[in-house]
Amino acid sequence: MRVLLGAFVVIAACSSSGENGAQAPSTTPQPAHDAGASPKPPTPIPTIGGVPTLSDENPDPHVVEVHLTATRAQAPIDGKLIDVLAFNGTVPGPLLQARAGDRLIVHFKNELGEPTTVHWHGLRVPVAMDGSPRVMTPVANGETFTYDMIAPDAGSFWYHPHVHTNDQLERGLYGPIAIHGNDEPVYDRERELMLDDVLLDTSGNIAAESLGGLTALSGRYGKLMLTNGRNAATARETATKGEVERWRIVNTANARRMNLLVEGARARLIGTDGGLLPSPLPLPSPLVLPVGGRYDLEIAYDQPGAARLVSFLPGAAAPDDRTTMLEVGVTDSANSPREVAFPPVTPAVPERAPTQSFTMSFDYLQTGAGAEWRINGEAHLMTPMLSVPQGTTLKLKLENNTVGVEHPFHLHGQFFRVLDAAWPGLRDTVQVPASGPIEIVAYLDNPGRWMAHCHILEHAEVGMMAEIDVLAPGAGMSDAH
Ligand code: C2O
Ligand code: CU
Repeated sequence: MRVLLGAFVVIAACSSSGENGAQAPSTTPQPAHDAGASPKPPTPIPTIGGVPTLSDENPDPHVVEVHLTATRAQAPIDGKLIDVLAFNGTVPGPLLQARAGDRLIVHFKNELGEPTTVHWHGLRVPVAMDGSPRVMTPVANGETFTYDMIAPDAGSFWYHPHVHTNDQLERGLYGPIAIHGNDEPVYDRERELMLDDVLLDTSGNIAAESLGGLTALSGRYGKLMLTNGRNAATARETATKGEVERWRIVNTANARRMNLLVEGARARLIGTDGGLLPSPLPLPSPLVLPVGGRYDLEIAYDQPGAARLVSFLPGAAAPDDRTTMLEVGVTDSANSPREVAFPPVTPAVPERAPTQSFTMSFDYLQTGAGAEWRINGEAHLMTPMLSVPQGTTLKLKLENNTVGVEHPFHLHGQFFRVLDAAWPGLRDTVQVPASGPIEIVAYLDNPGRWMAHCHILEHAEVGMMAEIDVLAPGAGMSDAH
């Protein structure tokens, strides 16, 4: 069963451009085409730097077919090869690119030595393809699974396992997804920036997992900051004065919220989890990126020098708590600063009024067996916490009853808006502040049993995981597999 959702773009015209984006990014408007019968061709798929790219093995321009294998590998994390788990041998895994409305066929093979799944974080795919181990049987070692799904929405997403996630993701199993819409702004360059932190042991390898003590309480904080799988201190790129770029930023850390600043360049916020904003917004300072969340930024190099993406620790103002996640050396040129045309964007889901409400409250319980993080008093609840008909617009109050601990709440398979101007745009993840509740309006249009959990992976692992069952008309409980 394939469910097509919302206002995705049906690509009517075929493009001969390859998955690897053979065209150089264009700074000039696309040539006007004969108005007659031929529809306007889609914007060329841009080349995205920073990570390797999966190549499309299917000649059909509306189908992207790729192979993805999870293996044990070695990767140069901090200048030396260390043991990792990797998709196709690299950390991050390769970029999956498609156009909104394309069919994605991913031939997945598990060579990890333990069961796993792939979750397409943020993509509103059919529930059977979501990688939730409560909906599909995890892929055993040596086995394969074919994910076959439509990518309905344009935006910046990512993929990662959903089994033993706190450990598998930390060890390197994550990769970016870029779904391109039609008529998107055309930049000189796009960059993928997957931000992470890892905890290394004394031998320089990734430290063994822990679900006890402080790690269970606050989640796992790494000491080494990574950009695209490398020590962030070595993330150096170049650009030229007058150029304008799109950055797709993903927070793949287990627990660390990123507080981001851009220095030395003109920056605007152009996209959130659920795709481009209707129009750009000034960049908040800092820009708070929850674990699991994404932002798209427009970066304009108006002067030569060094432009930086900086992350700093929550609550810490000391200069040594700042990490430069990327430094771009901007060379001088005769080009003057320029504005990139930003065509009006229609959001994937229009605003609509809530038809139902529900509260989820988060708390912590220390039991004899260890820590439990709970939602509405339940840890590891294996039945849906809430069942609603497909099309429900749910006002969900996220109440935090834990002193001093924030929770990046993530809902699978659906988008929501946050009833707080600090969180513009469509989202699938929101930071629930330590101090109190936050309200979201979730558009429950995609039928099935969907995980709703804290994306601090240690919190989820010790119980902070619920499900919302979205019932297709006439389906009763049949979506509950
Ligand atoms: Cu990023 Cu339940 O996922
Ligand atoms: Cu949490």
